[in-house]
Amino acid sequence: MILEGIVTTLNADQSTNIAAMGPDVDREITRLCLRPYRSSTTYQNLKRHGEGVFHVTDDVELVAHCALGLLEPPPRLVPTRVVRGNIVADVCRWYAFRVLRLDDDQARASIDCQIVEQGRFRDFFGFNLLPGDEIQGQMEQLSILVEKTAGDQERRAFEFLRHYVQNEIQTMGELRPARQG
Ligand SMILES: Cc1cc2nc3c(=O)[nH]c(=O)nc-3n(C[C@H](O)[C@H](O)[C@H](O)COP(=O)(O)O)c2cc1C
Repeated sequence: MILEGIVTTLNADQSTNIAAMGPDVDREITRLCLRPYRSSTTYQNLKRHGEGVFHVTDDVELVAHCALGLLEPPPRLVPTRVVRGNIVADVCRWYAFRVLRLDDDQARASIDCQIVEQGRFRDFFGFNLLPGDEIQGQMEQLSILVEKTAGDQERRAFEFLRHYVQNEIQTMGELRPARQG
């Protein structure tokens, strides 16, 4: 399954590169498969030095800053012990990894990594779900864009999602206990 997070790798000048990445992971998180584009710094760094750190965080500001490559102020970093790399402090969990296999035949490389050290700073805050009618309202707004721009395949994909959301909201409503008083 894909687990969205943050990857740190070492630049050639030994400074730390920080990027948002969603590797494929096993449930126990013993391995990662990163799929960075060959144009990315993460790929170039891992090709040169096959070690890094993957982080799981609920810090949405950190993810937003990473996504835009605007990390100001830069996050606090802590060196790892087993690999040459740095941990972003204040995340929930971190996984130091070593590259086992790097396949870069395609524009998007496939990099299999083994976790060699891990740690935890704090619990994940948890999910904060919007009320069902708000989600449905937003789907209706999006449907205007889909109507205007979609081909057959996009229309089918949107209908699939709309039905899924509708069913989930209905099921959750049925499971929720009736209000007292
Ligand atoms: C949540 C999230 C997940 C991402 N996952 C990937 C990914 O798996 N592979 C990838 O190449 N880019 C991914 N990106 C885009 C990279 O973060 C982006 O291309 C970034 O500029 C790469 O940084 P780098 O050049 O410093 O490595 C993701 C972005 C976000 C916001």
